Amino acid sequence: MYSKLLFARLVAWLLAGPAIAQGAEEHPLLPTWKCTTSGGCVQQNTSIVLDKDSKYATNAAGSRTAADYTAMGVSTSGNALTLAHYVKSGNTLNPASPRVYLLDSDGNYVLMKLLGQELTVDVDYSDVPCGENGAFYLSEMAADGRGNASAGTGYCDAQCQGYCCNEMDVLEANSKATAMTGHPCNGNTCDKNGCAFNPYQSGQHNFWGQTVDTSKPFTVVTQFPANGGKLSSITRKYIQNGRQINSGSVSSCGSEGSTGGLTGMGAALGRGMVLAISIWNDATQQMAWLDSGVNGPCRSGEGTPANIQAQHPGTHVVYSNIKWGDIGSTTKS
Ligand SMILES: *[C@@H]1O[C@H](CO)[C@@H](O)[C@H](O)[C@H]1NC(C)=O
Ligand SMILES: *[C@@H]1O[C@H](CO)[C@@H](O)[C@H](O)[C@H]1NC(C)=O
Repeated sequence: MYSKLLFARLVAWLLAGPAIAQGAEEHPLLPTWKCTTSGGCVQQNTSIVLDKDSKYATNAAGSRTAADYTAMGVSTSGNALTLAHYVKSGNTLNPASPRVYLLDSDGNYVLMKLLGQELTVDVDYSDVPCGENGAFYLSEMAADGRGNASAGTGYCDAQCQGYCCNEMDVLEANSKATAMTGHPCNGNTCDKNGCAFNPYQSGQHNFWGQTVDTSKPFTVVTQFPANGGKLSSITRKYIQNGRQINSGSVSSCGSEGSTGGLTGMGAALGRGMVLAISIWNDATQQMAWLDSGVNGPCRSGEGTPANIQAQHPGTHVVYSNIKWGDIGSTTKS
């Protein structure tokens, strides 16, 4: 009897073995909240997963091993997610530039259905310099990642990385500049430039940094009001030190016919989109479309990856307290 039981356990262990041997991936927990006007906010058992192509997450044979979140500059603590651009390893600084997605407890991505709803997040951009982009956005990825969401598969966006899909850049920012941009797609035709609201571009040169003090944390509320089932605008407000600061909105988005426009963006929000969060910089454009010239106060050349790495090795962004649901429901304390 005894040995038979042991044998059964051994068989069970061997059957379960391969997953253990490869080191099943532990997804860092990141609780979020889904809110309704009537029921308040309910905690969701969500976690994050690194994109499948993340460095350190594949072995020499090219197959995925348990992703090393620490080596990729990703950590969570309570409801806060920190993404660091550079990670120290011995005496060298490795560019990690992580991108993660919000995962549900069933192993699929969380599909946020935001038409007529709002999405709120607390942010800390104090250590995000010129040339860097802390991006908190939505892509119309498939819930199952067209494969295995638990392994970070199936990325898509309106620049057609992966494949072409609707993208809503809720918040792209550093400590000096910010933009919120819709990128609707009609099939494989995407509005790659998108329809953006950037306060600096609109002449509010002291808004991002002073009116909203980016050296301290604050709350970002993005609303997607609908009218007759159609997205009517994308609006933004901030809350800092208990004070509400209204900002701008986007009320049209290119041509409805060719790329889907605001209606197309709203339809994607209605079907549900996946929350993607990343920190990145780039040598080619140096984020000038976001933060220099008419777009922001950063000097040309300031935002090169080499400069950022040398001057700001600790570059990181923090997102916490992610809530979504009925308009007005996410900011009630
Ligand atoms: C989260 O997990 C707890 C403990 O397993 C469970 O009681 C709760 O219902 C879960 N919440 C949701 C929204 O699924
Ligand atoms: C999906 O990915 C996870 C994480 O890497 C892994 O543990 C799981 O076995 C994979 N599932 C399938 C069906 O491949």
